[in-house]
Amino acid sequence: MDLAALHDEIVAHSGCGFEPCEKATRMVPGEGSPDAAVMFVGEAPGANEDRLGRPFVGRAGMLLEELLEAAGMRREDVWITNVVKARPPKNRDPRATEVAHCMPWLETEVELISPRVIVPLGRHALKHFAPAAKIAEVHGTLLHERLFPLYHPAAAMYNQSLRATLFDDARALGSVLR
Ligand code: URA
Repeated sequence: MDLAALHDEIVAHSGCGFEPCEKATRMVPGEGSPDAAVMFVGEAPGANEDRLGRPFVGRAGMLLEELLEAAGMRREDVWITNVVKARPPKNRDPRATEVAHCMPWLETEVELISPRVIVPLGRHALKHFAPAAKIAEVHGTLLHERLFPLYHPAAAMYNQSLRATLFDDARALGSVLR
């Protein structure tokens, strides 16, 4: 399996019976540089992502791009993906069974890209990589040598203090990588 085959498999996926995959307009594969040193992992596509078939292209995506800039990175140099590859109806939280259903794709992405640092965005993504960790305690720190959790950008959109923390953490991520 290479990244192109993985992309094709995800976009062609159907018939599994899981609600997000069955009801979404499009599947949303990860995207970015195959040589990325950093992989950002969100929760699941929202409405804009569902419409365009690309991750983080709505308001949370705009904030993510500002965070990348603060960390000294460009979107095209990193890998951006989600735990769940299809939009859950009405943006509800993905169910554990749906997360498990999509997990082999994320695991393949991690294997193929082999990033130096994985950045789980928010508690849902963090849960997969560090089940016992709490985002409020570990955000902005390097865990297990290659995890650097950040708050989810969507959580910071209406919360100024979280937004300031997120930018501080993004700058700290930039320092870890330099
Ligand atoms: N939020 C996510 O977690 N993922 C996206 O792709 C967009 C918004």
